[in-house]
Amino acid sequence: MGMLLSIRDLYVGYRTVMGTLHVLDDVNLDIDRGEIVGVVGESGSGKSTLGQAIARVLPGNAVVSGKIMVDGVNLLELSEKEMEKYRGTTVFMVLQNPFTSLNPVKTVGYQLMEAARIRMERSGEKYSEDRAYEMAIQALKDLRFPDPEIIMLRSAPTLRWSDSEGCACNVVNIEAKDIDCG
Ligand SMILES: Nc1ncnc2c1ncn2[C@@H]1O[C@H](COP(=O)(O)OP(=O)(O)O)[C@@H](O)[C@H]1O
Ligand SMILES: [Mg+2]
Repeated sequence: MGMLLSIRDLYVGYRTVMGTLHVLDDVNLDIDRGEIVGVVGESGSGKSTLGQAIARVLPGNAVVSGKIMVDGVNLLELSEKEMEKYRGTTVFMVLQNPFTSLNPVKTVGYQLMEAARIRMERSGEKYSEDRAYEMAIQALKDLRFPDPEIIMLRSAPTLRWSDSEGCACNVVNIEAKDIDCG
């Protein structure tokens, strides 16, 4: 079986009033199942751009070319609807600032169950509230949160207050932990 992720000759530029800013040029990268790869570079070198290109969540002024192959499928050739199936089931992006990723007026449970619902729908599974609740509780248990049932009822500011940055960060990571490495 081929690589899980193969990037070939990836180019990303941003159209600006000053002309096109060339950010990534000729990026080639292979990542196999179970492999962890860190991308290192100074601020502004294009690390986030690379991640956003893979998840296909680049801003509207981006220009992209090359190939981003996931399990043999070029993500850059998929329609937005087809891409939605990949996003949230196979390809995930954990954003740099998890605080802004949690909606402070909704409970942790609501937001985790929403992620579970999207995951089920995208993978063709029929939505079940009980199953979504179970998945959310299990994710909190896996991360060793004490009293997951109580955490589910909390909203983000309470959670943020009760612990350090890492707490909210872990919650956001729940969406990402289920990457299929099989
Ligand atoms: N939407 C955009 N329009 C124009 N330039 C952008 C846009 N987004 C990012 N950039 C620029 O692209 C370069 C790479 O940014 P980024 O990928 O965020 O770098 P890093 O994550 O390595 O700090 C930076 O110079 C940044 O200012
Ligand atoms: Mg960045």
